[in-house]
Amino acid sequence: MKILIFPDTEQAEAFVALEVAALVSKRPTAVLGLATGGTMERVYGRLVACALDQDIAFTQVRSFNLDEYWGVAPDHPASYTHYMNKRLFQPLDMHQALTQLPNGIAADADVEAARYEAAISAVGGIDLQLLGLGANGHIGFNEPTSSLGSRTRIKTLTQTTRNANRRYFDKAQDVPRFALTMGIATILEARAVLLLATGAAKSRAAAQMIEGPLSAFCPASALQLHPKATIVLDADAARELTLRDYFEEVHPHGARASVPPAHRT
Ligand code: F6R
Repeated sequence: MKILIFPDTEQAEAFVALEVAALVSKRPTAVLGLATGGTMERVYGRLVACALDQDIAFTQVRSFNLDEYWGVAPDHPASYTHYMNKRLFQPLDMHQALTQLPNGIAADADVEAARYEAAISAVGGIDLQLLGLGANGHIGFNEPTSSLGSRTRIKTLTQTTRNANRRYFDKAQDVPRFALTMGIATILEARAVLLLATGAAKSRAAAQMIEGPLSAFCPASALQLHPKATIVLDADAARELTLRDYFEEVHPHGARASVPPAHRT
């Protein structure tokens, strides 16, 4: 795992936005795995600004979102489809046919989950998977004790997650109890993953993800198995890391590591 700790939230968000922009600039047909949530709102704002400013075309980019609420129609204002259309797909003129989310109102959740997995495989897999982090250690909607071998499926949301997403719905009872989500194994198959966690509320989960045991109790700890996982934190999210000094020595202020030439001794 590459752990990058930025002094403030804005720098951490800017790093993530620039990584995505750089990938698409180099490979206009990239396949992106996308996340939603509060953390990504500002990242997408920066990404849109950067892409428009630098004339980076997203029109051939394919994307697969991590998750969608079960029972919530794509045109519902709290759906993740609506979120993505508003914040990324429409501002960047991305093609509807190339941007996919699980269908939250499919006739059969299992059939839809299998279709989604097949659609990802059909395009050759995901080049870069963006992730946020739940305060309980979830990635996607893989709640604690999700199998590390899980694939896309329907999951019951924990009360912690439902509380965290309460703000997107009019009434507490409107917050869905279920979501379709990529599984941990689906996420681990992406060729690279980039997780952003900001704020003190994420510090415990961040420490468990990076330094804790590999455990289904902290689903994000599965990223320890990924050969190309970059974890981006701001100072608040990093504050419970035991090895924080080491991470900051290797990547001061989130900078790339510089390895000096070898000296024979
Ligand atoms: C969203 C998702 C979730 C969020 C996580 C953090 O598509 O998959 O895992 O990334 O719940 O959410 P925020 O950023 O709202 O704290």
